[in-house]
Amino acid sequence: MQDYKIFLRDIDKDQSKLAFINEDLVNQVQKFHQSFDEYQETPLLELKNLAKLLGLKNIFIKDESYRFGLNAFKVLGGSFAIGRYIADLLDIDLAELTQEKMLSKEVKDKLGDVTFVSATDGNHGRGVAWAAQQLGQKCTIFMPDGSSIQRRDAIRSHGAECEIMEGLNYDDCVRLANKNAEEKGWILVQDTSWEGYEKIPTWIIQGYATLAKEAKDQIEAAGQRPSHIFVQAGVGSFATAITGYYASAYKDDQPMINVVEPLRVNCLYKTAKAEDGKIHKVTGKLETIMAGLACGEPVTIGWPVLDSFVQGFISAPDSAAARGMRILGNPLGNDKRVISGESGAVSLGVLADLCQRKDLVEWKEKLGLDENSVILLFSTEGDTDFEHYRKIVWDGLYKNEGSYIYTSKY
Ligand SMILES: Cc1ncc(COP(=O)(O)O)c(C=O)c1O
Repeated sequence: MQDYKIFLRDIDKDQSKLAFINEDLVNQVQKFHQSFDEYQETPLLELKNLAKLLGLKNIFIKDESYRFGLNAFKVLGGSFAIGRYIADLLDIDLAELTQEKMLSKEVKDKLGDVTFVSATDGNHGRGVAWAAQQLGQKCTIFMPDGSSIQRRDAIRSHGAECEIMEGLNYDDCVRLANKNAEEKGWILVQDTSWEGYEKIPTWIIQGYATLAKEAKDQIEAAGQRPSHIFVQAGVGSFATAITGYYASAYKDDQPMINVVEPLRVNCLYKTAKAEDGKIHKVTGKLETIMAGLACGEPVTIGWPVLDSFVQGFISAPDSAAARGMRILGNPLGNDKRVISGESGAVSLGVLADLCQRKDLVEWKEKLGLDENSVILLFSTEGDTDFEHYRKIVWDGLYKNEGSYIYTSKY
C-alpha cells in the first residue's frame, strides 16, 4: 500500500470544542438557507448493490451536484457568511435574515458599493461570485496556477473578475486575496482561517453544515443511522462542519469519522500524525487531480474539532478519486448514478479500495467495516471540469495497477 497512508487513533470527544458548530446552531443555519428561492434538499442516494458487493450493509451518498444549480456544495458556506456579515451590519438577529431581506434596497443602501474577494480552486469562488451577483456587488477571485479554464469561466459567468495566477499555489492565492482586501478595503470571504481572520471562516463552516443536517434527516427517514463517515478535506473546513454536526447530534454514540486527503497534499494527516499540538503544512507544488483538496494549510479554527472527534486520517492516491468517479458513474443494478468530480468522488473510491484492494484488506478490518456498516459519504461536486471528467471516466486516466477482489456478488 505504498500509495496510501492511514493513521488511526483514539479520540477524546470533547463536546466543549463544539461551541461554534453544533446541532442547535445548524438548525438556524438551515432555516436561513431555506429562505432562498433556489433552496432544495439535494438527493441522498442509497447504493445498496454496491454496498453488497463491498461486504457492507449500506452506503448513502449525498449528491451535491444539485446544490443551487451550481454543481458543488460550496455556495452554502459563502452565502451564509455573506448573510451573517449583513446581519451584523444591520444589527439584526439571524432569525430575521432571509434571502428577500438580503436582496432588499435597505441592504444595498447600507452596504454601498463593495467588492468581495476570495481565492479558490473553483467551487468556493463560484459560490461567492454567485452571492455577490445576487446582491448586485462586485467580486474578484484568484485561482492557483494550473486551475481549470472551465472552472474559471463558470466563475466569470456570474459577473466576477477571475484570473488564474501563474506560479502561485492555493495558499499563495489566499495571501494575495488577503493583501488586496487590506489594501483596497475589499471584503475577504475566505474558506479558511488563520490568526486574526476567524469570523468569516467560522460562518462558512456553519453554512456548510446545512447539508449535514439534511443528510441526517434523510438517512433517519430511511430508518438507518451511519456507523462510518468518510469526508474529504482540503483545508478541513468542510470536514469540520460534518464532524462538528454529527459529534453534536450523536454525542457519545457518534459514527466513526475518517478524513480523506490527497496523498501528497495531506496537511491534516501530517498534523494528526505529529501529535505535538501544532498545525503542520504542506508547501510547494500541491500535486493532485483533486483540485478542491489541493490546500496545504489546515484551517486553524477547525483543527481542534477534527482533533477531538476524527479517528481516521487517510491520505489517498489520485487513482482512488478516479476509480470513485468511474464507480459512481457506472452504478450496479438499480443503484442510482452520481456524476462526481475528482474531489467529490475520492471518499467513495477510498471505501471501495479498502474493501477490494488485496493489499488494503487488513485496513477494512481495522476500520471495522463489515456487513453491519452503514456508510455516509458526500459527493461534494459534479463534473466541474467536464473535459477532465470525461478523460477519467471514458478514457480511463489514473488507473491503479493493483489487484482487486471481486468475489462477492450483489
Ligand atoms: C468539491 C470539494 N470538495 C471538498 C472540498 C474540501 O473543503 P475544505 O477545503 O473545506 O476542506 C472542496 C474545497 O474546495 C471542494 O471544492
